[in-house]
Amino acid sequence: MTTTPEGVSLGMPQLPAPDYPDDVRARLERDAAEVVARYPDSRSALLPLLHLVQAEEGHVTRTGMQFCADVLGLTTAEVTAVATFYTMYRRKPSGDYQVGVCTNTLCAVMGGDAIFESLQEHLGVGNGETTDDGKVTLEHIECNAACDFAPVVMVNWEFFDNQTVASARQLVDDLRAGAQVEPTRGAPLCTFKETARILAGFPDERDGAVEASGSAGPASLIGLRLAKGEATARVVHPRDGGPHDEPQDSVHEPSPTEHLSSHDAPQDTSASDPAHPAGPVAEEGE
Ligand code: FES
Repeated sequence: MTTTPEGVSLGMPQLPAPDYPDDVRARLERDAAEVVARYPDSRSALLPLLHLVQAEEGHVTRTGMQFCADVLGLTTAEVTAVATFYTMYRRKPSGDYQVGVCTNTLCAVMGGDAIFESLQEHLGVGNGETTDDGKVTLEHIECNAACDFAPVVMVNWEFFDNQTVASARQLVDDLRAGAQVEPTRGAPLCTFKETARILAGFPDERDGAVEASGSAGPASLIGLRLAKGEATARVVHPRDGGPHDEPQDSVHEPSPTEHLSSHDAPQDTSASDPAHPAGPVAEEGE
């Protein structure tokens, strides 16, 4: 890191960085040319190129950022700004397996906070830290749009749904022991470097990996099913003596004053407040 003469870190990487060995640079340049060719504007390839250099060293180094800048004709400041903005780019050496525990609201209350706390104690590491054997880096992560499977743990961005403290402990033990670990859905697990190369846009050539399909859960997909006419909605009437939760034979067509969102459903207190009567709203359902 860049430091002042007094030794105070300024938080910026020291550039220029040492270059890759010739053979590594030549290989990365061939890969980078393939990635850049996919975009009408070369600078649009910065995100996949950062994954590419991350696949090489396991994190985005000064050398990797300098490489991206050279290939794309950007300044190192521009590359640094992007690499430090996105949390998927790691800035220091980390483990083969990035274990992310979702501690956003739903997962947190469903057990995510307890899992994260337990794994910190079990592994002897804090947030963003790596076990001594270099296998597991633990971090808490934001919502991964799998809330209907809360609490969710992700390993190298593969889903491990409906976790418990016990199952999460077993998961990290298996990862450290080199045991076969299967995500709940999606492609088989691979190392962080291998994952980074796939994210750079190179094909996943493992047998069955592409065919392995993961899917969102029923609660996540209800909006899509409503849009396709595959599910029905039910109307929730105001609590003024009218009919309640009346099932509809077909998909409910909302009027301009209605919204197909359960977030707009009448709250327990709204009907008792004459100054704020609840209007007719609809609620998703089958
Ligand atoms: S809150 Fe954890 S996946 Fe959404």
